Amino acid sequence: MTQEPLLELRNLTTVFPTRRGEVRAVESVNLSLAPGEVLGLVGESGCGKSTVLLSIMRLIRRPGHIAEGEIRFQGRDLRALSEGEMRRVRGREIAMIFQDPLSTLNPAFRVGDQIRESLRLHHIVDGRWPWPLDMGARRREKERVIQLMEEVGIPSPDARYKAYPHEFSGGMQQRALIAIALACEPRLILADEPTTALDVTIQAQILDLMKRINERRGTGIILVTHDLGVAAEFCHRIAVMYAGRIVEMGSVDEVIESPQHPYTQGLLDCIPRLGRERQPLSPIPGNVPDLATLPPGCSFAPRCPLARPVCESGPIPMVRLARDRRSRCLRHVDFAREQGWTWGTEYEISNQ
Ligand SMILES: Nc1ncnc2c1ncn2[C@@H]1O[C@H](COP(=O)(O)OP(=O)(O)OP(=O)(O)O)[C@@H](O)[C@H]1O
Ligand code: SF4
Ligand SMILES: [Mg+2]
Repeated sequence: MTQEPLLELRNLTTVFPTRRGEVRAVESVNLSLAPGEVLGLVGESGCGKSTVLLSIMRLIRRPGHIAEGEIRFQGRDLRALSEGEMRRVRGREIAMIFQDPLSTLNPAFRVGDQIRESLRLHHIVDGRWPWPLDMGARRREKERVIQLMEEVGIPSPDARYKAYPHEFSGGMQQRALIAIALACEPRLILADEPTTALDVTIQAQILDLMKRINERRGTGIILVTHDLGVAAEFCHRIAVMYAGRIVEMGSVDEVIESPQHPYTQGLLDCIPRLGRERQPLSPIPGNVPDLATLPPGCSFAPRCPLARPVCESGPIPMVRLARDRRSRCLRHVDFAREQGWTWGTEYEISNQ
């Protein structure tokens, strides 16, 4: 049974004009997310992960802009919405959680009031809340905030309702942000490295919380992380990004057990794995290239142990190896050509 995707990115391209030239931070990205699915968007720093999320939210700051592509959310093209319509989508249907909770929470307002604000926005937009609020409505609002604080595991929510963000630990701040996101009852949560600033134990608790929210509420989640290990634990599917493009995509098991792109293999070699503790971890040599001056061929070529001169000669198309299993590497292009795969067959060489 094929379900209509919750979110679909088609050929998404986002650029930033800079003095060094145009930075193509996201280049022809195709992605889809089924309702209730958790997708990990993985890659090193600077490969375009946050830009994908900010593009979905239409929060790219000028002069940066979405140069091409469609962002279809529940069948609607978000690029075609007016700014007012888009604000409603942001307020209620898609929520974003950022890496640094303190930069998102307002230090001057009590945490409980900030969650209440989000709740109010949701209901005002819905037209379901009486306005101005009578005492009964205010009480119900506060009860709901406390319920949300409980749901995200903030202990003694009654007492903590009145606390300010600086009185919360990093993990508690992140929980408060998740409560703000949940208040809108979104269909989709975009989480941009939500646990990177936290220690490992708290990180596991927050991921566990998000997993429960996904299972209980059926909320779709895109989790951005540079850590393939975290994505493997938490996600159903993984998309690996390098230099603005998706280079490999598949289910967690497929990507972790049988990576098809040398870059994914490189990321895997950087994480400790059970049964492999004695092997030294090997970081990928070299750095992510400057996105303003990308070479014409495979952007990973300067760091790739399998590179051949031909890899640098031109763009590498994405090859669909199986349903929902893709890799962008010349080895697969060669393989597909040897098999006689062409456009339009099940195993097409697509330019995605
Ligand atoms: N406002 C901007 N102006 C110019 N270049 C930008 C801007 N925002 C992002 N970029 C560039 O776009 C590229 C992708 O950035 P992005 O923040 O999306 O990467 P990322 O994968 O989220 O990295 P990190 O893991 O460090 O958060 C980088 O090369 C970055 O320098
Ligand atoms: S196309 Fe060539 S350089 Fe790029 S990942 Fe594949 S083998 Fe390596
Ligand atoms: Mg980022």
